[in-house]
Amino acid sequence: MSGPDLLIQGGTVVSGSTSFVADVAVKDGLIQAVGAPGSLPEARETLDATGLFVLPGAIDVHVHFREPGYTHKEDWETGTAAAAMGGTTTVFEMPNTHPPTRSLAELRDKQAAARKAYVDFGIYGLLAEDNIGELQGLIDGGVNAFKCFMGNTFGNLPSPSTGAMLEGFEIIAPSGLRISLHAETASIMAWRQQRLIAAGRNDPLAHIAARPAVVAAEAVARAAILAEWTGARVHVLHISSALELGPLRDAKARGVDITGGTCPCYLLLDSSDYARLGSVIRVNPPVREAADSEAIWAALKDGTVDLIETDHAPHSPEEKTKAVIWEADCGFPGVETQMPLMLNQVSRGRLSLQDYVRFSAEQPAKRFGLWPAKGRIEAGAHADIAVVDMARTETIRAAALHSRGKVTPFEGESVTGVPVHTLVRGRFVQRDRRLVSEARGHGRQVTDIQRMPPPVLNHADQTLASVLRTPTPS
Ligand code: NCD
Ligand code: ZN
Repeated sequence: MSGPDLLIQGGTVVSGSTSFVADVAVKDGLIQAVGAPGSLPEARETLDATGLFVLPGAIDVHVHFREPGYTHKEDWETGTAAAAMGGTTTVFEMPNTHPPTRSLAELRDKQAAARKAYVDFGIYGLLAEDNIGELQGLIDGGVNAFKCFMGNTFGNLPSPSTGAMLEGFEIIAPSGLRISLHAETASIMAWRQQRLIAAGRNDPLAHIAARPAVVAAEAVARAAILAEWTGARVHVLHISSALELGPLRDAKARGVDITGGTCPCYLLLDSSDYARLGSVIRVNPPVREAADSEAIWAALKDGTVDLIETDHAPHSPEEKTKAVIWEADCGFPGVETQMPLMLNQVSRGRLSLQDYVRFSAEQPAKRFGLWPAKGRIEAGAHADIAVVDMARTETIRAAALHSRGKVTPFEGESVTGVPVHTLVRGRFVQRDRRLVSEARGHGRQVTDIQRMPPPVLNHADQTLASVLRTPTPS
């Protein structure tokens, strides 16, 4: 074999099931070989990874990069720079930009904005009440997944009625693309919020009162029924409650192709943090009780919750800091802090490094069609790598984040375990905790590698398209 471009020497290579000391040879953007230390041919360049861990880069299926339309919050350059610094090598970007990604023309505009990306990316198309006729165009145009906002959140996109959702599921199901759900039922929250406002509740905890766990669980159960009926693949984003785990488990047991994700805030924060953090902690769905966090931790470990995503949702300090809770924008940046926060949990013994790799890289790759090209450190895969120093301690400082969103509930948190180099298809995008600015524009859309097995469709003869084709009985 001809010599590699780069040899990563002596690190501990980690997968979801094993870890071992090895050298990793990288050539032409791919992992050429993984072998015993000293066994691989010499390379043009070497990286000494002795004492470090070599992980597949994180694959984050839930980021909001805000471009076009809200670039004072973030854009594709700052968002993907933050990802590079955080050891994240692929992101899937959400459609609640302005305009939203709801048609082919808007997909093309987003692809143009994404040309400055440091890391690889997927693009979500929107499934809403008013774009059912655009869904096929988005599929043919190369979206990587769909997003359905069952409840209102930032961007105030009208959430689809159950009727529109079902037709959307019918259209998307044959493509096999996964539909990620913001699973909170709009009508319940709108009703409760209006009653809370009328009663004079403006405090941070009123945010939980407007969106109790039943709001999420009802949405998960309803979406699972539509997924089961059609055969559409779905993913429950940002699982925040113990109650949602019931309908998620039930649907999995019935054979529905449904997956679930959660975010660091639901694992690491709870209602006792509202007094300290005020409106900064406002996120949809809300951070809930300590018992919810405990249940989500257990569900990650037993596989009910499949993966960790970040819901990276940056806003400006003015937008986040409000006396009236209803006026504060929801969400905070996460793509840069996810890996250090979770590695810190590894350092504390709450999680193994192998589990972490399963949740952050393997499962997202498998569930969103990027496996076996991404999500593993093995010959033939993309050289998407986070080299991690588990002995390094840093303090999270919002002001130092590469994201434009400089407000985080994790301000001042000390974390042990940090990605010190990030490679995307063999190229350094972060090196020694510094962004490699020449790598701007290296990222590309993952369309060409996305391969989902053919979906199993149900009730195809009863889809709206099918019944409308059938002649009227005489
Ligand atoms: C997200 C945002 O700001 O775009 N906010 C949030 O609170 N999670 C939207 C979303 O994912 O719900
Ligand atoms: Zn959401």
